[in-house]
Amino acid sequence: MQIYKRLIRPILFNLPPETAWHLSDLGLSQTWFWKMNWVDFKFQSDLLASKVAGLPIKNPVGLAAGYDKNCKFLSSLEELGFGYVMGGTVTKDARPGNPKPRVIRLKDKKALINALGFPGNGLDNALSEVSKLRNHSQKSVRILSVSGTDISDISECHETLEPFCDAIELNISSPNTKGLRVFQEPGKLRSLLQAVNEHREKPLLVKMPPYNANGSIDENALNLARICVEEKVEGLTVSNTMPVEHQGLAIGQGGLSGPPLFENTISMVKNYKNEFANGIEINACGGISNGSQAYEALKAGAASIQILTSLIYEGPRVVQKINKDLNHLFIKNGDPRT
Ligand SMILES: Cc1cc2nc3c(=O)[nH]c(=O)nc-3n(C[C@H](O)[C@H](O)[C@H](O)COP(=O)(O)O)c2cc1C
Repeated sequence: MQIYKRLIRPILFNLPPETAWHLSDLGLSQTWFWKMNWVDFKFQSDLLASKVAGLPIKNPVGLAAGYDKNCKFLSSLEELGFGYVMGGTVTKDARPGNPKPRVIRLKDKKALINALGFPGNGLDNALSEVSKLRNHSQKSVRILSVSGTDISDISECHETLEPFCDAIELNISSPNTKGLRVFQEPGKLRSLLQAVNEHREKPLLVKMPPYNANGSIDENALNLARICVEEKVEGLTVSNTMPVEHQGLAIGQGGLSGPPLFENTISMVKNYKNEFANGIEINACGGISNGSQAYEALKAGAASIQILTSLIYEGPRVVQKINKDLNHLFIKNGDPRT
């Protein structure tokens, strides 16, 4: 943790965010390094066993979608001690994303604003990447995130990638992609889920849009969740980045991530849990960076937590640290899930 914060992060944070990201990708491409025993990032404890999308996981800490959009580094990321790792979001066609600058660091808040707009190499490329993983032993549950603006495209992504992972997440909530929010219209979401259900064989998660920044209950989001329950979706990820305006971004707006989201994440999880009890699994995503926040999310009713921004600010040891602290809190205060 200290090497990352003292040595690596200052170098990376001197570079523009996307350049730093490409540089850390170089590190992730060295899978042999992450597999070496002396860099063991895992923390094991039976107390931490949990579930995502109904599947057993060794610990409740997952990598959120968006870190490895083209599914190139999953075998390295799976060495970092996550209970599950999410690749994608994959779209059917390759996309350039939005014009740059499209990622801003808010260093004082340890937050980011991104307006990436799904830059990615598309489905065929993702397929060739995940096909290579067949030769690697899988170290954690693997989930792939898919999205798009058209039902048949998303359905094709789902059907093509499902054999190569344990579950799929449908992202209907990126604030930065034109046309994507069409699936926040209840009828459209139902049609999408029904199309996917025609062929699906594995568990499905849906990534929900966030409530407003003021945290008031969002009836539309709850309504979308009701449709997910009716269409037998196994779990919801609650939730995505929060739409905000920022003049430093070429398109003037993007999605906020990191600590400013945390309180809203907890109230959404509580609210969904209150509404659906055990009718659908809830996974908390947004602003989680330490064990006590993870504990609070599990206490609010989440089956697992997902992180992305804290991996960038705290480095790869953050997963082990969250799990260690969570284990300590389980021993001290009891398992909040029971
Ligand atoms: C740079 C960046 C790219 C992201 N890309 C995606 C994406 O492709 N698909 C998606 O579902 N979420 C994406 N997200 C949202 C994250 O998965 C997560 O929901 C959000 O960042 C909140 O979690 P955090 O506060 O732990 O980062 C992205 C977030 C960031 C910061």
